[in-house]
Amino acid sequence: MGLRKVGVVGLGTMGAGIAEVLARGGIETVGVEIDDAALERGRGNIESSTGRAVKRGKLSEEGQAEILGRIAFSTDFAALSDCDLVIEAVPERIDLKEKVFAELDKVCGPDAVLATNTSSLSVTEIAAATTRPASIVGVHFFNPAPVMKLVEVIGTEGSRPEFVAAVTALVRDLGKTPVTIGDRAGFVANRLLFGYLGPAAQLLESGAASKEDIDASMTAIGLPMGPLTLMDLIGLDTCLEVLEAVHRDSGETRHEPAALLRSLVAEGALGRKTGRGFYTYEKVGSGAVADPVEGKASAEISDRLYGPYLQDAAQMVKSGYCDAASADAAMTLGCGFPVGPITELRNRGEWTD
Ligand code: 3HC
Repeated sequence: MGLRKVGVVGLGTMGAGIAEVLARGGIETVGVEIDDAALERGRGNIESSTGRAVKRGKLSEEGQAEILGRIAFSTDFAALSDCDLVIEAVPERIDLKEKVFAELDKVCGPDAVLATNTSSLSVTEIAAATTRPASIVGVHFFNPAPVMKLVEVIGTEGSRPEFVAAVTALVRDLGKTPVTIGDRAGFVANRLLFGYLGPAAQLLESGAASKEDIDASMTAIGLPMGPLTLMDLIGLDTCLEVLEAVHRDSGETRHEPAALLRSLVAEGALGRKTGRGFYTYEKVGSGAVADPVEGKASAEISDRLYGPYLQDAAQMVKSGYCDAASADAAMTLGCGFPVGPITELRNRGEWTD
């Protein structure tokens, strides 16, 4: 089945990025938000992201206009009535998701695929809260969606297999790499990534290292961003939700959200999108830049954060949840790590297939 017209509900950081990816891929796209102000913010997110590509000479102004012209913006769910696929990207609250899927149930045709971009809730649980559980598929993009190549596709036991296959094919057509996996808290990438980000926030809270030194230690070993800068990019509210979900599932101390993270979220310091998180930004949104403060790299810090992450990945593959290639793809294509964890272990002589 071809998915020719696709809707996105929720145009926050992820939803706007997903709408951009779809429109760039030539897909007729419909973006829906809750009210005019949110819709304008969503449109602004897409305009500034594509505008940045124009500034860098990666996209012509006509190209940008074409992309934006492929997206219809609306505050009315009825605009989604003839979509073949709708991707929900609203905040991670089951009551909100339920409401969205109840609306979709009213307006979408019986053969529409209904997908969720959840990063912390169970796709099975979301499906169970809808009247069309067999139509629900998880499709998990990474931030920034236009840049990161990985998309995790999650089918539940009840999902219609042809729906999972259609979403996987679309993801591939969009130039992304789909990894099809089972429904477990954090899926593959967040499960591994947050086993590293959570301890980074705990380390900062302990006072044993500064944020700049923590970040510098990780970029020194080749990661594209330090963990605290990355959390600011993802959004601290999202980070807290993912950590809580993974911690509920694993019960492990390193997944326990640091009190510091909780208090920043409570204060509304959510990272780049609000201008303040672990760092302070001169500008809000995707183009935000933090004050450059040079940290001092320490092998002790990178070993402390990187070692357990590698063991986690080994454990995940040994448990049979995913294969070595998927674990590697998750971290290289989803999070920009220069090398996947299993390849790293193999290089160190600590992994045999
Ligand atoms: N939106 C759109 N495009 C962006 C962007 C944004 N917010 N940020 C960067 N880009 C583009 C730039 O335009 C540039 O494109 P070009 O190569 O075509 O010119 C390219 O990305 C590289 O950008 P920069 O040169 O400005 O910056 P960097 O080289 O430092 O790369 C980065 C930026 C791609 C964000 C890189 O630092 C990176 O890979 N960081 C890790 C990101 C990551 O781990 N994401 C996953 C988070 S987990 C998640 O999202 C799951 C969720 O459920 C929590």
